[in-house]
Amino acid sequence: MPYDFDTLLDRAGTNSIKWQFRKTPDGMQFWDQTNAHHGEQRVLPMWVADMDFQVAPEIADAIQKRAAHAVFGYAQPGPGYREAIQGWQQRRNDWSIELEWINPVPGIVPAMNLFVKRFTEPGDGVLIQRPVYHPFTFAAEYNNRRVVNSALAWDGERYVMDYEDLARKASDPDVKVALLCNPHNPVGRVWSREELNQYAAICAEHDVMVFADEVHSDLIMPGNRFVAYGTVENAWQKPFLVGTAPSKTFNLAGLKTGNMIIPDADVRAEFATEQRAAGLLGINPFGVVALEAAYNQCEPWLTEAIAYIAANMRHLEARILAELPKLKIIQAEGTYLAWIDMRALGLNGEQIESLLLDKARLFLDEGHIFGPEGEGYARINVACSRTLLDEAIDRLVRVIR
Ligand SMILES: Cc1ncc(COP(=O)(O)O)c(C=O)c1O
Repeated sequence: MPYDFDTLLDRAGTNSIKWQFRKTPDGMQFWDQTNAHHGEQRVLPMWVADMDFQVAPEIADAIQKRAAHAVFGYAQPGPGYREAIQGWQQRRNDWSIELEWINPVPGIVPAMNLFVKRFTEPGDGVLIQRPVYHPFTFAAEYNNRRVVNSALAWDGERYVMDYEDLARKASDPDVKVALLCNPHNPVGRVWSREELNQYAAICAEHDVMVFADEVHSDLIMPGNRFVAYGTVENAWQKPFLVGTAPSKTFNLAGLKTGNMIIPDADVRAEFATEQRAAGLLGINPFGVVALEAAYNQCEPWLTEAIAYIAANMRHLEARILAELPKLKIIQAEGTYLAWIDMRALGLNGEQIESLLLDKARLFLDEGHIFGPEGEGYARINVACSRTLLDEAIDRLVRVIR
C-alpha cells in the first residue's frame, strides 16, 4: 500500500513543540514564526525529533475508535500490550524477552532520570559519551550527579568509542552507571555487536550498570543492522535496563508511552519503587491502543517510512556535496537525524545559530547542546516531506555560498 510522506502538513494549531514553540533559557516559548503568513521570512523548524508525517492508518483508526468511546479514565496496559512488545522484540531484534520484564513508563527520558536517582547517590559519576542527546547530561546534572564523559572519537570515517578512555573513566569508583545511546543520537551510529560487547565488558569489569536507550532502534538505514543490547553476550555479565518505545518509530512521541525492559527481578523491583515514589503510574489509554496497532500491524508502513527517510538522507548528502562542499554530512547509519559538520565555515556556535535562524530562517539543533564536542555542528531532522527538505537546503545554499 502506498503511504503519503510527500504532503506538506500544516502543524499550526496542534500545540506541536517543533512547529509552535522555541527553546529559551526560561523554557519553551510559544511563537508563530513558522506560520505560512510570514512568507519568505517564515522559519522552517527541523529540530525536535518527531516526524512531519501522519501516522500509519491502522494507528489512526485504533485511536479514533478509542476516542469514540469518549470515556478516558485511568488506564493500565492489558496482556495484549506486553505481548505486542514481546513479539516486536522477537521479530525485529531476535531478542526473546519475558512479559514480566516489561515496565511501562511515560517516556525514556523520565525513566533515565528515575534510573539515575535510584542507582546512584548525589555526587556519583554518570558515564556518557558526548556528543550525545542532551537529556543524558541533564539526567546527571539535574539530579546533582557528576557527568563523566568519554567522548566519542572520529576515526577518519565515523564516530567510534574510545575503549581505553572508557575503561579509565569507568574505573573511577564513583562511576556507578552508564547511559548508552544505541543507536547514537546525534551522530547516527548503529553500534555493532563487537562494539557493544567491548562496551559491556568494560562496564561489567568496573561494576557499572548500563541503561541502554534504544528509542531509535527501529530507524535503521539500509545496509546497517541494529543489535539490541539484550542480545549482546557480555551485557549479561551484569544487570541492565533497556528503554524502548514506538514513539520515534511510529511518530507517537506526544502519547508519552514507552517501556523499560528489565530482565533482573531485583533491579526491576528497585526501578518500580522509584517510579512509585515519583507517582509516575498508569498509562495513556491512547498510548496502549497505538502501541498495539503499531507493533502488531504497521511494519509495512515502517518499511516505507524508512525508505523515504533514507532517500531524504541521500538527497541531503548529494546536494550538500554538490552545492556546499564546505559542509560535511556525517553518514547516519540510523535515526532520521543528520549531523552536519560546519566547522569549515570558521564560525562559533553563536554565529552559526545566527546564520541559521536569523539569515536562513532555519531552526536546527545547534551542535553544542549535545556537548562541547558538538561545537561547529548542527543537527537536522529529515523526517519530513522532500519539498520541505529542499526548501531548507535552498536556504542553506543561499546564506552560505
Ligand atoms: C536518544 C533519545 N532518547 C530519548 C528520547 C525521548 O524519549 P521520550 O520521549 O520517551 O522521553 C529521544 C528524543 O529525541 C532521544 O533522541
